[in-house]
Amino acid sequence: MKQVLVEPKEVKKEKMEEPKEVKVEEPKEDQKEVGLSDLPGVGAATIDKLQESGYTGVMSIAVATPGELVEVAGVTESAARKMINAARDSMSMGFESGADLLIKRQTVKKITTGSKAFDELMSGGFETAAITECYGEFGSGKTQVGHLLAVNAQKVFPGSTVVYVDTENTFRPERIIEFAKGAGMDSNKVLANIKVARAYNTDHQMLMTEKVEDLVSKEGANIKVLIIDSLTAHFRAEFIGRGTLAERQQKLNKHMHTLLKLADTHNLCVYVTNQVMSKPDVFFGDPTQAIGGHIVAHASTFRLYLRKGKKGSRVAKLVDAPNLPDGECNFFVTTEGLKDV
Ligand code: GTP
Ligand code: MG
Repeated sequence: MKQVLVEPKEVKKEKMEEPKEVKVEEPKEDQKEVGLSDLPGVGAATIDKLQESGYTGVMSIAVATPGELVEVAGVTESAARKMINAARDSMSMGFESGADLLIKRQTVKKITTGSKAFDELMSGGFETAAITECYGEFGSGKTQVGHLLAVNAQKVFPGSTVVYVDTENTFRPERIIEFAKGAGMDSNKVLANIKVARAYNTDHQMLMTEKVEDLVSKEGANIKVLIIDSLTAHFRAEFIGRGTLAERQQKLNKHMHTLLKLADTHNLCVYVTNQVMSKPDVFFGDPTQAIGGHIVAHASTFRLYLRKGKKGSRVAKLVDAPNLPDGECNFFVTTEGLKDV
């Protein structure tokens, strides 16, 4: 992952005599060439530490806080500030105009759920170019929603591939067949387009996500939906006890970065599920809290909280979304799909 060093400012000087305004249309790869090693005071050892914690590019440094870098790279606070400032300076070419972003937004597609109320809550469905995190207690329906998205993805992207990373051995092809039939789709075709990967531990899980990145960017695979069910189960199992929390969060941070990059650069719909734990010190209100803490919460674009409702229904609560109001809806998980109450 060592990157080639370039001095962008030198190049600029040479081009100074050109009178006309040159529109910057070079592909984004140009920016990628400014690597971590171009930042002041960043040597090989620091790069290793940064990369291990998920700070793989200049962008991640530009958006970091000095405190974070002090913690993960063991540099002084003033060194961290210098790194961040240099990263921000080098990123100045990376700004996209609001108009460009609007065009990008128009490429966002939405995958419907089959429940009108749920679709309305999500303003049309689960978005591409975003991570949607769904947390809730056991049996709340997180896995069912994952299966449903895997099926309905074929409505929006016929022939595309859905990657389903299954960490808890809960993927059931039978459920896919039922949902596909419920949606009036060819269940064999739907099943054929879902690639299931069993992940046995956090390293394996992360490797698979990186593999997806490779498949999409290097081999041009037509992957549009990535499901990780469950995102946090292995992390929870492998890092036990308070002393390991920082390490776990660093690793999870790295994982979330890979997912974010996939969603953002390749317009993928990323759906991740997350368990909850009970907070014993909460006496009023809901004591459940999502695993993964603020690392997962901040990296997710949409956050849904699922819980069991009345008469076997399920309640989905939108707790965080960049452009949608918070709200709730009720639906039923049935054999054929999600149905309105
Ligand atoms: P954990 O992974 O254990 O945290 O739970 P989860 O949130 O993933 O729950 P999951 O999506 O597995 O939901 C399981 C629930 O979905 C069951 O308790 C049933 O209520 C419902 N369900 C699953 N399959 C069917 C089915 O074929 N028909 C109907 N009607 N409901 C089903
Ligand atoms: Mg599940």
